[in-house]
Amino acid sequence: MSTKTWWKEGIVYQIYPRSFQDTSGNGVGDLKGILHRLDYIKSLGVDIIWLNPVYESPNDDNGYDISDYRSIMKEFGSMEDFDALLAGMKTRGLKLVMDLVVNHSSDEHPWFKASRSSRDNPYRDYYHWWPAEKGTPPKRWSYFDVDENAWKYDATTDAYYLHYFSVKQPDLKWENPKVRQEIYQMMEFWFKKGVDGFRMDVIPFISKDTSFPELPEKYQGDFVSYYAEGPKLHEYLQEMNKEVLSKYDVMTVGEAPGVTIENALDLVGEDRKELNMFFHFDLMSLDRKPGTVFEMNPDKWKLTQFKEIHSRWDRAFESDGWGSMFLSNHDFPRSVSRWGNDHPDFWHASATMLQTFLLTMRGTPYFYFGDEIGMTNVRFNQIEQYQDINTINRYEIAKNKGQDLEAFLENEKEASRDNARTPMQWDTSENSGFSKKTPWISLHPNYKTGINVASQEVDEHSVLHYFRKATALRKAHQGLIYGGYKLIDPKNEDIYAYTRSFEDKQYLILLSFSENLSTVNLSGLHLTNQKLLLANSREVADPLTEISSLHPYEARVYDISKK
Ligand code: GLC
Repeated sequence: MSTKTWWKEGIVYQIYPRSFQDTSGNGVGDLKGILHRLDYIKSLGVDIIWLNPVYESPNDDNGYDISDYRSIMKEFGSMEDFDALLAGMKTRGLKLVMDLVVNHSSDEHPWFKASRSSRDNPYRDYYHWWPAEKGTPPKRWSYFDVDENAWKYDATTDAYYLHYFSVKQPDLKWENPKVRQEIYQMMEFWFKKGVDGFRMDVIPFISKDTSFPELPEKYQGDFVSYYAEGPKLHEYLQEMNKEVLSKYDVMTVGEAPGVTIENALDLVGEDRKELNMFFHFDLMSLDRKPGTVFEMNPDKWKLTQFKEIHSRWDRAFESDGWGSMFLSNHDFPRSVSRWGNDHPDFWHASATMLQTFLLTMRGTPYFYFGDEIGMTNVRFNQIEQYQDINTINRYEIAKNKGQDLEAFLENEKEASRDNARTPMQWDTSENSGFSKKTPWISLHPNYKTGINVASQEVDEHSVLHYFRKATALRKAHQGLIYGGYKLIDPKNEDIYAYTRSFEDKQYLILLSFSENLSTVNLSGLHLTNQKLLLANSREVADPLTEISSLHPYEARVYDISKK
């Protein structure tokens, strides 16, 4: 069995600071706003807050382009605000995980300004440069570039620099030991303040083959996989662990696009001394067109595929490593709109069913702010409403290629990252209590009709109240954290059923992913002592029998232990 630690037992609550709570009146969320809401966050039963980047940034990619790693973005407040927030969290027993964005910096970081100024500047080698006299560099794909080209020509020194993301996010050169030392010292700076860990942005991308060959044949055009398999990734992570992480009791979770299940334990195996956990992308690509990152697949995903992904990843960490369970974050649409059903008939049931899922699986659960009240996709109609560089650039690409822009906008209604970035819905007042000023991005109008904290606080059957019950349940049962997982009735396309077993305890979890009344086959399970622990429906048809039926999106958790 897995060794017990606080970060395996903790429940994570992710905050996108720009969209959480504005107190300064600039239409942008801030650190004081988070401080102001700490009692609310604590009341949810979560333990760890992951904050998206709060560092100084020109905001080309909302803070993922950092121009100073040791200061706070002015829009969000000051270092004093940060210290007060951290102190407020410590008082309440909440841990803080920061975002570490070190595959790239901002082009406005002093290192890059120096680097681009001349070929013999001492900072030249902090970034990847390709001198123009060598000809055009071999193709590298970029996530956020209108030409989908990760090389940008810079006239000052007649050379190209590398940017896997936007032109304002040049990739740092980890091959230079000075760069690595700068990063380790910066990490120490935050750890000394008392920060409890890092979520590491696109961490598998940090190591590059600096000879920049043509994309090797075996990747068949898949740049993301290639980026994730740089030659020195593990060497760098082990060095980072030895020099910094091992000195503190902290948690690390890598964002790991391109990392496959076969390589999973290389990153998180306990004796590897690299990271604690990572986010894989298998589920996040389930509803996307094969071979694309941001295009929805017109064929709907199947529940058997969803189950297969989670069962496979559970097995990968059965005796070593540890998983991270998430259904949404700031890069993907809202969980209830994507994996559940946000139609009014099914919204409540499916939002609570998905909460039940994350809170009864093995692996640390990560909730994205607003999922505790069932926030939904905003589905903007016009390109002008979007703020995200990703959607805006891809719109330009589609336009340049003469593609169908209506179809593009339809796709973004389900795929865009901005679906997850609309402001937190606190109450029914103007701007939903998020800000006194027009917010930086439009609110979802459904804050007026029940999807807000204040309305749900006073309704004991709300999604919010259910969330608190579900977090409390996980806390009360170690078996839901550490217990072994077994899939039941695997071929069922309507119901996800599994058991969790721990010492002499056994739990049975039943989750309907269907709009219809559906049945599950529970033969072989010991159902004599069934005790219902949690249910999202007010009418539970007890007791369970070999063939049991569930209402649309119903969720139930039973204790079926023999004694
Ligand atoms: C990660 C972040 C995303 C960001 C990108 C570049 O994928 O989660 O928001 O745009 O890296 O830093």
